[in-house]
Amino acid sequence: MIRHLLSGADLDAETATQILDTAAEMAAVAGREVKKLPALRGRTVVNLFYEDSTRTRISFEAAAKRLSADVINFSAKGSSVAKGESLKDTALTLQAMGADAVVVRHPASGAPHRLADWVDGSVVNAGDGTHEHPTQALLDAYTMRSRLGRLAGLSVAVVGDVLHSRVARSNVLLLSTLGAKVTLVGPPTLIPVDIAAALAPGTDVCYDLDAMLPSSDVVMMLRVQRERMNDSYFPSAREYARRYGLDGPRMGRLPEHAIVMHPGPMNRGMEITPEVADSPRSTIVEQVANGVSVRMAVLYLLLGGNNR
Ligand code: NCD
Repeated sequence: MIRHLLSGADLDAETATQILDTAAEMAAVAGREVKKLPALRGRTVVNLFYEDSTRTRISFEAAAKRLSADVINFSAKGSSVAKGESLKDTALTLQAMGADAVVVRHPASGAPHRLADWVDGSVVNAGDGTHEHPTQALLDAYTMRSRLGRLAGLSVAVVGDVLHSRVARSNVLLLSTLGAKVTLVGPPTLIPVDIAAALAPGTDVCYDLDAMLPSSDVVMMLRVQRERMNDSYFPSAREYARRYGLDGPRMGRLPEHAIVMHPGPMNRGMEITPEVADSPRSTIVEQVANGVSVRMAVLYLLLGGNNR
């Protein structure tokens, strides 16, 4: 097993499948009255969040607690980071406290990689800038596999603000490793030139959502990340929704079995309408539930169930 999980590219097909299979076993624990396993008793997991998060932070905390680890939650607000302490000094503090795993979210792309040089424990990237979010890709893959029965050969459209999306990057890397065919869809201004070839050969780019729908098994809608935009990438929110938003009539053009995903948080009415988000084809709430099982599997395999 790998020591850190920093990128979707850290996972070969065998390791990724092992994580997904372990997650399926972890999911069984969630159905019990007592949702706890002793696997990580006495180990310490630190959640180090320099950026806002609802789902990911709670999910990692629940995962670590269900494995009986001691959990320390650190958020940059209210800590010495607000006094200007550097990432390195924070890392050395965590090291001194004996963290076995550090789960880190940071606005700077690459921050988890730096952290991995400074601590002895395992580092899990919970989202770094516009770069990567590998556990999101794993929970997305898990959700596709459990709804559609397989990953190999699936046609997955990843739609919207690809430029700012760490979810898109990690998904392209992981899904292509697992044999799915990914097409990035969105306005040309929000799809970096050459991104498909740079991430994984075989990935396509398409600027026409309507053309993609009839042949997609999965449509993954991305949030338009206004907080990372310092330019106007499209004329107006209304124009964006008209061309790239998923609404009822568009959903109707998908094959019968196709599912609609979104990592959350959603801009309802922009990239996705409430009608679609709340429909039986939507896996949005399932993705959140699966996130806990997948993160349990990741922590378990990195910390306990391996040769370390
Ligand atoms: C994503 C993130 O933070 O990268 N959300 C998540 O982790 N569930 C996507 C987003 O913010 O749009």
